[in-house]
This record gives sequence, C-alpha cells and structure tokens, in this order.
Amino acid sequence: MARHFNGGKLVIASHNPGKVREIGDLLAPFGADVISAAELNLPEPVEDGLTFIANAQIKAKAAALASGFPALADDSGLAVHALCGEPGIYSARWAGPSKDFSIAMRKVEQAIENKEDRSAHFACALTLCWPDGHMESFEGRVDGTMVWPPRGDKGFGYDPTFVASGMDITFAEMQPTAKHAISHRAQAFRKLVEACFEAVS
Ligand code: IMP
Repeated sequence: MARHFNGGKLVIASHNPGKVREIGDLLAPFGADVISAAELNLPEPVEDGLTFIANAQIKAKAAALASGFPALADDSGLAVHALCGEPGIYSARWAGPSKDFSIAMRKVEQAIENKEDRSAHFACALTLCWPDGHMESFEGRVDGTMVWPPRGDKGFGYDPTFVASGMDITFAEMQPTAKHAISHRAQAFRKLVEACFEAVS
C-alpha cells in the first residue's frame, strides 16, 4: 500500500510558476499547504535520468532532502512513435534556449513529414518523495495524432499540433477544463490522489 500524505507543507519541486499553480489547484481539496522549490530557493538538480519517472524522482528527492518536507515533482513530454519516442524526456530542450515551441513543433513536423505513422502520446510522471527518501511514483498517458499546421492558442508546449484519440480539435483548441479531463497529467494525478491523498471536508 502506498504511503499517505498526512497534510501540512508540500513542496512543488518545480521552478515553473505555471506548473506550480496548476499542481496547487489540483491539490487544493486535499489540505496541502503548497510551496514551490523556487520560493524556498532550492537549487535545481541536473535532470540526467533516462525516463520521465527517473527525472521526476531526481527532482522530488532533491527538493524533499533539501527542504525537510514532502515534495512532489512532475516530468512530462511528447513521445512521437515514428521518432522512437522522441522528443520524449528532451521535449523542453527541443525548443532551444529561447523556449520557443514554434521551433520545437516545426522540428517535429520536419522529422515526420515523410512518415505515414503520425501517432504520438503525451506522458507524465509524478513522484511524491518524503524527507526520509521514501518515494511513490505514478504515470499518465494520452494517445493521439500529430497534425500540421498548428491550431489553437490555449494550452502550452506542443498542444497546437496534438489531437487526442477520438477528438477532432487540438489540445490548444480545447477549453482547459476539457483538456484537463483527459490529459496525461490529469491521469497521473488521479492515480496519485487515489493512492496517497484523502480529501478534507
Ligand atoms: P519538463 O518541465 O521538463 O517536464 O518539460 C516538459 C515539456 O514537455 C514541456 O516544456 C512541454 O514542451 C512538453 N509538455 C508536457 N506536457 C505538455 C502538455 O500538456 N502540452 C504540451 N506540451 C507538454
């Protein structure tokens, strides 16, 4: 049985304010007093894992050990099947130092423009780590197809070029609540919450 989070401070092991806000919102019903790694001035560890889970574990463990509080990390990305899963754990890096995702989306399109298989999935790994080093990890995935040209202005990252299976609009054309109902992150969260959190009344 997974270890439970029993309330109190929870560090979100991310320096990305958008991610911290989204995770804080998702955890609001569970009595977590959320604070970010950036607010605590925690250093960002080197993400040299070879899987989403390995990188989520690196981030969560570094934050839990440095802060003395339980810490939650998210590592996610886009895996294009015709590219053997790339950009995968390097999804953020494909956008270059300027973090320009129009560049990253074009790079993916150029790499697959002559391929028949345009299937892909988004993956998300969440790791909750306690200061004694105990960790619980969960994964979520949403399958779909890469489309071109990009469509929509909601969401972030590769959303304008990804259509989830059974849909005909991109993630960037969907209302955030609709995306959050089916996304890889939402699915990983569902598993995390079911295993480790209890709603407070
Ligand atoms: P991380 O912050 O190192 O986990 O980087 C994850 C990267 O994967 C992001 O910068 C996005 O490019 C991409 N990514 C992850 N989740 C999503 C999503 O829901 N939509 C679009 N892109 C995503």
